[in-house]
Formats: sequence, structure tokens, C-alpha cells
Amino acid sequence: MISGRGSNMQALVSAIADRGLDAQVVAVVSDKSQAPGLLWARSQGLETRVLESAGYVTREEYDQALATLIESFDPDYVLLAGFMRILSDGFVQQFAGRLVNIHPSLLPAFPGLRTHEQAIACGVQWHGCTVHFVTPVLDGGPIIAQAVVPVLADDTSNSLAQRVLVAEHRLYADVLGWLTAGRVHLSPEGRVTVEADTLRAYVLPAGHAQSIQ
Ligand code: GRF
Repeated sequence: MISGRGSNMQALVSAIADRGLDAQVVAVVSDKSQAPGLLWARSQGLETRVLESAGYVTREEYDQALATLIESFDPDYVLLAGFMRILSDGFVQQFAGRLVNIHPSLLPAFPGLRTHEQAIACGVQWHGCTVHFVTPVLDGGPIIAQAVVPVLADDTSNSLAQRVLVAEHRLYADVLGWLTAGRVHLSPEGRVTVEADTLRAYVLPAGHAQSIQ
């Protein structure tokens, strides 16, 4: 599920091919008809759907329509990849245990928006991203994995965001690999264990860069 650029969605789709994951993206769903990520998804022959919120009076009404749309594809997992809407409790509960989000900070630090600006303003030396199960608490669900990047003295929120985004793409692809292999376990108490041959938390050096579309 996307709302904009969709670079994380692209990373997930590419990981399936590049890493030979036993997974299929059954649909890319956006709440914005103009989301640039939709164009890319269509160019790859993926199913896309748009459900805009105009015309829905309440959040619950919209989320119910969204849930019906998503269930029509019968997905094992619903991956939020820059989907910029707060989801209602009912929606989150309906997809509990299979609803996953990526957030551009080392949660529980900096939930919400403008995380890179906040990290610089706070003077933290390390920043990063978190993939987590979604619960009704905003950016507060059980953490599956995290990747860490350094904050450099001359960073702007833009340069920091670019460094974090590289980490996001790798981290989300790693988590998708674990999810599709059935290696991620969520206990009733909300603790995550991963049977992984790679680390669930790792540091990407500052020099690690790639072009961002
Ligand atoms: C990413 O930083 C993601 O973590 C955040 O919004 C951004 C979306 O980027 N939730 P993209 O659409 O995946 O390129």
C-alpha cells in the first residue's frame, strides 16, 4: 500500500525477483490516484487499485471499503510502504498479525512525521528505520527488524533521509524474505522472534549510497 513515490514498494517487488523469494505482489493499492509509484507498478504489469478518501464521511467508512478491497485479493500480508494514512482500530484489528509498516526512524524514537528533521534537531548520532507489525498505537507495534545509519555533522534532513532510504529498501526486502519463509513469529504478548541467518539489526555505513528514484 502506497501513497506516493513507492520506492519501498519497488524494492519489495525487485527483491522477489532478485532474491527468488517465494512471494507474489497480488496488488498495489494507493489512496492517491496520482501516486507516482502506481505508474511504476503498472509498468511492471502489477494489479493496481486506487481508493481515494473523497466521498467517505468517516475514517471508519473509508477503512471498511479499503479492507474489503484488500480482502478481495486474499493477501497473506499487507505491507504499508509509505501509505500516509492513519488506519482505524477496526482496520488494524482485522489485519492483526499480517499488517506490516516501515517507519523512517529507530522506533520508539521519533514516531510520526518529519523524523529526519527531528533526529538532526535532537543531535542524535544514529538514525535509521524500523519494520514493525501495526497495532492501533501509531508507529508503536512490535518491532521485526531495524537498520541503523550514522548522522553526519553536515547532514541536512534531505541527505539523512536519502541515507535512511537506502537502509529502508534493504531492511524491508530482508523482512519480506523472512515473512515469506515463515520465519517471523509474533507471540500473543507482542514479542517478535525471527529465525534468521542474518542479523535483525544492522548498521549501514555512511558511504553506502545508491540513486533514489
Ligand atoms: C519512506 O521513508 C517510508 O518509511 C515512509 O514514507 C517514505 C515513503 O517513501 N513511511 P516511498 O514512497 O517508499 O519512496
